Amino acid sequence: MTIANHGARHVAIIMDGNGRWAKKRLLPRVAGHKAGVEAVRTIVRAAGDLGIEAMTLYAFSSENWKRPEEEVSDLMGLMKRFILSDLDEFAANDVKLKVIGNWRALAPDVVKLIDNALERTSGNKRTTLAVALNYGAQDELVRAATAAAAAGPITEETIAAHLDTADMPPLDLLIRTSGEVRLSNFLLWQSAYAELYFTDTLWPDFKPADLKAALDQFARRDRRYGGL
Ligand code: FPP
Repeated sequence: MTIANHGARHVAIIMDGNGRWAKKRLLPRVAGHKAGVEAVRTIVRAAGDLGIEAMTLYAFSSENWKRPEEEVSDLMGLMKRFILSDLDEFAANDVKLKVIGNWRALAPDVVKLIDNALERTSGNKRTTLAVALNYGAQDELVRAATAAAAAGPITEETIAAHLDTADMPPLDLLIRTSGEVRLSNFLLWQSAYAELYFTDTLWPDFKPADLKAALDQFARRDRRYGGL
């Protein structure tokens, strides 16, 4: 386990702005999502080098089904290709893949692909990459509370133990790109004491130097967790 000097073990990102990135270039929205996948690759590599243990990326929310059918299918296609093409690299770089959200409800071919990728990377230790797919924090909390209630009393600890992120380090830093300042149903419980970082940079333009800048600012923040 690496504790880098910025101190952030778990970083989450709302990767926003792919559509606007494409629009600025007069390209179709899917081109923005493709560039977004490239940014994911670069940032996941950088995260390992920067000593981040876990990274959670918001790839597809339970609300994204409201997008046009073509865009939904483009996003699913990109996701499948990403998992297929990067699995070898995860193995080489000791990246453990994790998927959070209601992903078992996705198309059977996607579920099969994910199951295989989870199994192939389950022994990896350096970085955990959690991809949020068909994820909504309110849905996660309903599932966690239901499971906690079935097992015994509902307490903060038992709910936390049934969250999709239960086996991950506490969330330290949540980044949102592209200038929007909201959480959009992402990691609501986990954000209780996370530091929030908003940048105007569009996701496809987000580079390792931008991640470094967020971590530098994180290192300067004074986290008091309600104390003095
Ligand atoms: C937000 O941009 C981005 C998304 C809804 C999808 C994020 C997906 C990726 C970056 C690609 C796949 C991810 C992985 C892990 C391989 P937007 O379309 O809302 O942009 P806009 O607000 O500018 O329209």
